[in-house]
Parts: sequence; structure tokens; C-alpha cells
Amino acid sequence: MAIEIAGLRKSFARNEVLKGIDLEVRDGELIALLGPSGSGKTTLLRIIAGLDWPDYGKLEVDGTDWLAIAARDRRIGFVFQHYALFPHMTVRKNIAFGLTVRPQKTRPDAAAIAARVDELLQFLQIPHLADRLPGQLSGGQRQRVALGRALAIEPRVLLLDEPFGALDAAVRRDLRAWLRSVHDASGSTTIFVTHDQDEAFELADRVVIMGEGKIEQIGTADQIHDHPASPFVARFMGATIELPVTVTAGRASAPGIDAARLERRAFADGPATLFVRPGDLTPIADPAGLWRVKHVSSTGAVLRPVLSGPGGQEITVEVLRRAADTLTPGQTVLLRVEAGTLFPDTLSGRSGHSQPVPEQKPVPVKETQI
Ligand SMILES: Nc1ncnc2c1ncn2[C@@H]1O[C@H](COP(=O)(O)OP(=O)(O)OP(=O)(O)O)[C@@H](O)[C@H]1O
Ligand SMILES: [Mg+2]
Repeated sequence: MAIEIAGLRKSFARNEVLKGIDLEVRDGELIALLGPSGSGKTTLLRIIAGLDWPDYGKLEVDGTDWLAIAARDRRIGFVFQHYALFPHMTVRKNIAFGLTVRPQKTRPDAAAIAARVDELLQFLQIPHLADRLPGQLSGGQRQRVALGRALAIEPRVLLLDEPFGALDAAVRRDLRAWLRSVHDASGSTTIFVTHDQDEAFELADRVVIMGEGKIEQIGTADQIHDHPASPFVARFMGATIELPVTVTAGRASAPGIDAARLERRAFADGPATLFVRPGDLTPIADPAGLWRVKHVSSTGAVLRPVLSGPGGQEITVEVLRRAADTLTPGQTVLLRVEAGTLFPDTLSGRSGHSQPVPEQKPVPVKETQI
């Protein structure tokens, strides 16, 4: 099922939590919604499921207006963010639940329901758990059952709201691979909400980055990682260091910084901000360098030198221990930029703009060779 969302807005009292969402999900696609807490991910999912209604906008599935269809008729499979299984029902009964509560005329008979549940238990690789109660399962097993319950109704669209949120990292990794195979085999169209970037990029065909009720960027891992569309996405993707630079003929420069490795960009001359990940700056020992090593902390393989710059700026970079064993406190260095993204200061909220200009669209940073 293809989903088309356009101009979707939703307020709670005076608080606008979805500020015009446009999103097209292709039939059979697995989309991850990634964004900070409160950005509107659950609200968007609830609207698609029919548990909430938007104030404005369009929601169509395969060309049909879904806002005119009641939740129970949408055939949605939903695994909620904080939604326990029914504790007094066995795994088998939990999975069968969605079928047993159907109106009589569409409800399969008992034998058909049992057959469907057996099939799902096999498919989800949990037939040995069929007669247990939820209290007798591990967290990861419970999530498999929750997904089984969502899949039982043969949903046209599967919505998963942080289904692995409470689990530890190793179990999450297992479930991730498993979920991808379940998705591929079931052929459903899936929207998956997560806080976890690795999870989003590993699982999804495309990732949607949400920030404060808006979609900031839609793309593949590479597109979002290498070409963040806004300062928000750059920061969210870990580019926590913001260096003030001057752009001339598509090249960024600043005292004490060597940015020659960055590609030239079609970019207006003038002040700008370079967003860089801590691992994409290499400090190079240089007696005339304008950055000074204040101290160096270590987490095993990675060293984190704290550097102070010519303008009083203090940053923490990350270098492999192997490459950095000559860095000592007091030493001066040149900072070489290996990768980064430029944004004009009007977008990054620096230099006289105390607030980012809200309605301004990011300048597309096309890779134009000059
Ligand atoms: N029923 C409601 N009444 C009032 N405000 C609400 C309601 N539901 C959500 N909100 C508000 O809407 C905003 C978006 O909430 P939402 O639950 O969609 O965020 P989220 O991205 O899912 O966050 P999280 O990652 O923490 O789950 C929040 O500011 C929240 O307080
Ligand atoms: Mg949520």
C-alpha cells in the first residue's frame, strides 16, 4: 500500500505539534522515522492509524482518502511505544486477539484463527512460546509476540512505535535483522519509529528526520550523513562542532584551520558556519598553529583532545590513539577538516541572529564543481 501525506497539521490546544507534513511512502517500503523526543513521531503514527485526526491535510492510501475511514476499518497493525501484552492471556491468545474481536460477519472461524496463529508462531520463530503467559517471556520475546499480534489481522500498513525501546543493545540488534526479514517476507508497508540512528539506517529503505513537527530531511543513510539538509540535521547526525568561517569563491577558510580538503561548493561569499563531526577534524602538530591542546582524555582506542582556538572557542575532537600519540597539553596545532557541511549564518542562528529564521528554507548545497 502506498501512503501519501500532504500538508498535515495537528495542534493540541494552542500547541502545533505537526506543522505541515508531506511524505510519500511507497508500496512495500520500510521507512524509519527518526527524531528527538517531542518532535511529533507518535502523533503522526496515531493519525495514520486513525487514533487521532489532523486539523488540516491529506492522508491517502492507494489513492483512497483514509481520513474518511474509521480506525477499525483501516487494517493497520500497530505496535505501540508503551503497550504491554494482555497479561492474563497466553501468547497464542494474544496473537489471536485482533481476529477474535472482529465483527461476526468478517471474523474467521475458530479453526481458521488457530491456523493463522500457528502460521505466525512459525513465521516469528516462537512456536515454543505459544502457551506461555507474557510474564514468562523475556523483553525480546514479548516484542516478537506484540508484532505477531499486529500481523495477525494481515495489516495493509504496519506501524511500529519504538518497538525495541526498552531492550538492551544486543537484543535490539537481533530483532532488527529479524524485523527486516519479517517485513520483506510479509510485503507490508512499514513505518518504524526509533530514537536510535544506527537502527534507523540499518533497517530502513529511507529515513525521515523529524524535528519539532516538521520533516527536516528524507533520504538514505548516505544522503543524510554526507549531505544534511539543515543545521538541525547536521547537529542531530553528530556534527556538534560549529566553526565560524569565511567563504570565498566556494572555499571555506578561517585562521588556524585547513579546509582545503573540502569540496568547493556553489555558495555565496561571506560568513558561514562549518558543521563538523568530532572525528572529522585532524589536529596536526604545528609550532605556528593557532589551536592549543588543553588536555587529552581517553576512552581506550579513541583519544579526545580538548583544543582552544584563536577566538576563544573550545572544542573536543576525536582521534585514534594510534594517530595521536604525539599530542601533549600545551602543544599548538593546525586543524585539518576532513569532512563537513557549510550553512549560511542566517540558517545556523549565529552572528547577530539570536534565533534561526523560522520559515527560511535551507540553501541547497549542490556539489557544483567550480
Ligand atoms: N494528547 C495530547 N495532548 C496534548 N499534547 C500532546 C498530546 N499528545 C502529544 N502531545 C504533545 O505533542 C508533542 C509531540 O508528541 P509526540 O508524542 O508525537 O512526540 P514523539 O516524537 O513521539 O516523542 P517521543 O520520542 O518522546 O516518543 C509533544 O510536545 C507532546 O507533549
Ligand atoms: Mg513517541
